[in-house]
Amino acid sequence: MRELPSASIVDSVQFNQAVIVPNAVQGLFRRRPAAVGVATRLGLDGRAIRLMEGLRSRYGPGPVWIRVMTDQALLCLDVADVARVLDGSPHPFASDPAAKKKGMGVFQPDALTISRGELWANRRAFTEAVLESPAEVHSLVGAFLEVVVEETDAMFDGLGGPGATLDPDAFSAMFRRIVRRVVLGDPAAGDEELSELLAALMSEANGLPSDPSEHYPAYLDRLQSHVDAAEPGSLVSLFGAAPQDVDTRVTGQVTHWLFALQDTLATNALRTLALIATHPEQRAVVLGELEGDEAPYLAACLQEAMRLFPTTPLLSRETVVDVAWHGVSVPAGTQVLIVNGFHHRDRTALDYADRFAPEEWTDGSAGSERAFNHFSQGPQGCPGRNLALLLGTAVLAQTLRAWPGLEVTAGADGLDPAAPLPYSLNPYALRFGPGVVLPAAGVR
Ligand code: HEM
Repeated sequence: MRELPSASIVDSVQFNQAVIVPNAVQGLFRRRPAAVGVATRLGLDGRAIRLMEGLRSRYGPGPVWIRVMTDQALLCLDVADVARVLDGSPHPFASDPAAKKKGMGVFQPDALTISRGELWANRRAFTEAVLESPAEVHSLVGAFLEVVVEETDAMFDGLGGPGATLDPDAFSAMFRRIVRRVVLGDPAAGDEELSELLAALMSEANGLPSDPSEHYPAYLDRLQSHVDAAEPGSLVSLFGAAPQDVDTRVTGQVTHWLFALQDTLATNALRTLALIATHPEQRAVVLGELEGDEAPYLAACLQEAMRLFPTTPLLSRETVVDVAWHGVSVPAGTQVLIVNGFHHRDRTALDYADRFAPEEWTDGSAGSERAFNHFSQGPQGCPGRNLALLLGTAVLAQTLRAWPGLEVTAGADGLDPAAPLPYSLNPYALRFGPGVVLPAAGVR
C-alpha cells in the first residue's frame, strides 16, 4: 500500500513555529490582546501562509503527515480534502481532539462541539431547534432587532458628540449586553458578572489545566437561573419546545452561544467596520443600501471580513475509526488539521485572495466555495451562522447609520484598497471616529 508523504523535520519544526505555537500563545480559547499585537507586528499569519504554500508545492496536493509537538498529524493541503473532512464530521472525523476537549472541558464540558456519535446528534437537534439554524431569519427577529437598536443607541449616547472615539472596549461592552438580552432575556442585560465569569474561565482554559475549574459551578448556577426564568423573547424561552432529554444538558449548550456572539462576532464586526471605513467604493454601496430594509451587501462585508481574517484559524479533527483516504488506511486516533487562513487566501485559486471583495458573496461564488470555512461547513458547520449574520449585520447597520462618515483613527495599517491586504488585523488596536460625511457619500 502507498504511503502518504511525511514532512521533513525542518518543515515540521517550521510548521509548529509558524502555526501551532503562535496560535497557542495568542490564546486557544480567549485571545490575549498583547500577544495578538505582537503576532500582528511580526507578520506571523503571513509567514504561516507562505510556509503552507511551500508545503503544498513539496508534498501536495494530498494530505501530509506532520509532527505537531510530539504527535503525528495529517495536514490538509487541498480543498477537496478539506471538504471531505468537514463532510465527514463528526463521524469519522470527530471535532474533539485532546487539546480542544481538555480546554473546553474547563468552561463547557457538555458542549456540542466536543460531543460524538449519538450524543452529538442529540445536542445538535436541540441546538438547531432553538437557533432555528436552517432559517435565514430567526422567528424572534423583531425582539432581537429592537435590542440591537437600543444598545447601539445607548453606546453612541455614551460616546458623546464630535471628537468621540469608538474603541473595542465600548464595542465589546455593547455586544455583551446584546448577547445577554438575546440569549437570556432583558433581566440578564446587566449581568456583567456572568460574562466576566465566563471570560475568566476561558482564560483559564488557555493554559489547558488538567483539572476542572473550581469557578465552573458558580458560573453554571448563575447561568441556570437565567435559563430557568425562560424570559419571553429570548433564546432560552424556546427551550421547552426543543427536542431534548437528560443527556442534552441544555444549560451546558448555552455557553458556546454566549462566547460565539460576544467575542467572535464582536471581533468580526470590528474588522468589518475597519474594512468599510478604508474602502470608499464599498462604503458607498453599504450606505446606499442602508436606506432600504435589507442589507445583503453589508452582510457580505461581514462574511468577507471573516474570510480575510478568520477568527477560527485552525480546524482540528480526530479520526474515530480507521479511514480509507487516498488509497491508504489512516489509523483511528489521528489528528487532522485544516489551516483556514491558507485556503481563504489562496492566490493560486482566487483572483480576489488579498482584496476586500464583498461582491463575491452577493454576485459571485464565494457562498458555495468549499475553501472558506470561517463558519465551517458540512453536518458540523456552525449552527449559529444565520443568527450571527443577522445580529452582526444589524449592529453594523446601526453603527453606520450613527456614523456614516466613520473613519479609522488607529490600528488599520495596510488597509489600502490599492495594495494587497495584510494577513492580520488586530481588533484590539482599532479606534474609530465619526469622520466627516461628504455630501455625496451616501449615494452613487
Ligand atoms: C461570527 C460568529 C461566528 C463564527 C465565526 C463561528 C464559527 C464557527 C466555527 C468555525 C465552528 C466549527 C468549529 C469546529 O468544528 O472546530 C462553529 C461551530 C459552532 N458554532 Fe459558531 N460561529 C459564530 C457564531 C455562532 C453563534 C452566534 C452561535 C450560537 C448562538 C454559534 C454556535 C456554534 C456551535 C454550537 C457550534 C458547534 C457545532 C457542532 O459541533 O455541531 N456560533 N462556529
